[in-house]
Amino acid sequence: MNKQTILVTGGAGYIGSHACLELLQAGFDVVVVDNLCNSKYESLARVQQITGKTLKFYPADIRDKAALTVIFQEQAIDTVIHFAGLKAVGESCQQPLRYFENNVYGSIVLIEAMQQANVKQMVFSSSATVYGEPPSTQYVEHFPMAAVNPYGRTKAMVEDILRDVSTADQLAQAENPWKIALLRYFNPIGAHDSGLIGEDPNGIPNNLMPYVSQVAIGKLAQLSVFGDDYPTPDGTGIRDYIHVVDLVKGHIKAITALQGDLFSGGACKAYNLGAGKGYSVLEIVSAFERVTGQTINYKIAPRRAGDLAEFFADPALALKELGWQVEKSLDDMVADTWAWQTKNPQGYN
Ligand code: NAD
Ligand code: UD1
Repeated sequence: MNKQTILVTGGAGYIGSHACLELLQAGFDVVVVDNLCNSKYESLARVQQITGKTLKFYPADIRDKAALTVIFQEQAIDTVIHFAGLKAVGESCQQPLRYFENNVYGSIVLIEAMQQANVKQMVFSSSATVYGEPPSTQYVEHFPMAAVNPYGRTKAMVEDILRDVSTADQLAQAENPWKIALLRYFNPIGAHDSGLIGEDPNGIPNNLMPYVSQVAIGKLAQLSVFGDDYPTPDGTGIRDYIHVVDLVKGHIKAITALQGDLFSGGACKAYNLGAGKGYSVLEIVSAFERVTGQTINYKIAPRRAGDLAEFFADPALALKELGWQVEKSLDDMVADTWAWQTKNPQGYN
């Protein structure tokens, strides 16, 4: 089974590059398609440097059907991990059409190309964002999807499309039915412990961890803590942070599960990938100060529009059906973020 060839869309990106690394180390052959709209080839050069193994890179857009057809003709792909997409919530509110066109239309083109090549196993990057504001702060997979922004709606739509193509195959009793794992990530942070690959955001980061780390290294002057009056123990927002290496290991577990009994007649199933516990903004700041010895200059600022007080995963289904759970601690997430930041103060530039 480890001789499978995996096509990784968006493989040059933050999570994709870590996935390529773990896949190569686990013995898979890896093919990447990425248009480099939010990444650099250098990430993949480093993945090959760390592993001592090579992967095949196609600089192409997933909306380009002809390019995808060539890839499926040239490579004997078994399974696709689909990371390619735009991911900034604020930008998706300003440019919704661009997000639907890239994420939803792009996924449709990819699904069509897969269907045409009779490659019908996929692991899809979904997000906890699809839940919106559910009845409890611990999210369970059966909660209804109710995304509250265009980015989240692109993820929910692609989930729906994938469920529908899978159902169609089951109704038709297809010989080679779709087998799909929808992985709903909570808050991925951290980096590979080599410090050679990591998250390289364009411009000023939106997310907490890259922001804290750029304050620590002196690139940014001060962190704004968005709200200290939430109904949480210290008043700041609580999230379920997950080490990116734990996260990508969940994808490898999902690939294995697609071969097993659970998916044998074809299926499309959603899984939360999170730790099942959360940390507040101030807990992240103090862990960063303790682990790195740096002082984080911060101020309390107003709440950020659209933020929830607290949410975290119920990760029980992923443990039961994929045999996956997080292994790394908050200290690992901080130490690995810091190693990447200090070794690469300008990212991949
Ligand atoms: P990223 O931007 O680093 O990686 C995405 C990659 O996809 C980039 O390399 C980009 O160049 C590529 N890409 C985008 N559109 C493309 C297209 N049309 N054709 C080809 N390549 C294209 O983001 P990431 O953090 O690695 O996220 C990967 C996936 O996980 C995304 O789908 C994202 O929505 C999802 N996700 C991310 C998070 C997170 O916090 N990082 C959380 C939940 C879900
Ligand atoms: C955001 C996205 C979500 C995406 C996730 C991971 C929004 C509304 N949601 O989630 O769709 O899946 O990133 O990429 O953008 N914080 C600060 N100061 C900062 C930055 C953040 O106090 O400068 C706080 C936030 O208010 C929040 C916590 O830190 O309480 C985490 O924020 P962030 O890293 O942006 O993740 P989410 O908001 O959970």
